[in-house]
Amino acid sequence: MTELCYSFAEQIKKHISDFEPEVAMILGSGLGSLAEQISNPIIIKYSEIKNFPQSSVSGHKGQFVCGTLQNKKVICMQGRIHLYEGHQPQIICQIIKTFKLLGVKKLFVTNAAGSLTTKIQAGSIMLITDHINMSFNNPLIGPNDDNFGPRFPDMSNAYSLNLQEIAKQTASELNIPLSQGVYLMVSGPNFETAAEVKAFGILGASAVGMSTVPEVISANYVGIETIGFSVITNLGTGLQKNTQSHTETLAMANKATQNLSILLKHIFERI
Ligand code: HPA
Repeated sequence: MTELCYSFAEQIKKHISDFEPEVAMILGSGLGSLAEQISNPIIIKYSEIKNFPQSSVSGHKGQFVCGTLQNKKVICMQGRIHLYEGHQPQIICQIIKTFKLLGVKKLFVTNAAGSLTTKIQAGSIMLITDHINMSFNNPLIGPNDDNFGPRFPDMSNAYSLNLQEIAKQTASELNIPLSQGVYLMVSGPNFETAAEVKAFGILGASAVGMSTVPEVISANYVGIETIGFSVITNLGTGLQKNTQSHTETLAMANKATQNLSILLKHIFERI
């Protein structure tokens, strides 16, 4: 894939002139309303950026929102790009490289996920401590540009321990329940079978979803410090009686968003 990031960054800069985002946020299914807290927003639709991939999923708006949140300059993706939409994982790396070119130092990712254990119930927030890539794909496949990062990037601090500590401390002070666990990514778009849910639990994961891992791999590659949160929208297949649905995902995400909004806002004060 040609390096589209230079053109993406140039086009975004045209909209935001001398505004330099320090933090990027990527919002998951049903979590887009977190962007509404951003002051003095400048909105750039993905469709206004030449060659930028479009987000086709309901609950994903498909735009950047740039502005300030607790005095931090942020660029927020209200709607992300998923592999199951047919996008190549490399395009996600181009977006993260775009953040790097814009000067972003930290990345906050959020997603909707299914729980793999009855210990983490629907409606709760899980701090992602690590991930397992079961998408059978990788955003870094292809020629490597050493200007951005190494051929074989380290993933030992994929979810920044420093940011995790701040998140845990903040949640505890605000009395917001925060579970912790490993996020496992599948490509989707089907929800898991009961056997898969059982197997993923045995592998050591606590939540399963269809996103986030390509962004986090890419961010570690280019040296952007990352933190991730899953909003648990349902128990995995076989752990709950009813069938899985995207409508249910959006409804539950909406519910937990309020707590996550408060938590993120306070974390932003401390970074
Ligand atoms: N599985 C995969 N992705 C999801 C789920 C799930 O159960 N819930 C929300 N996103």
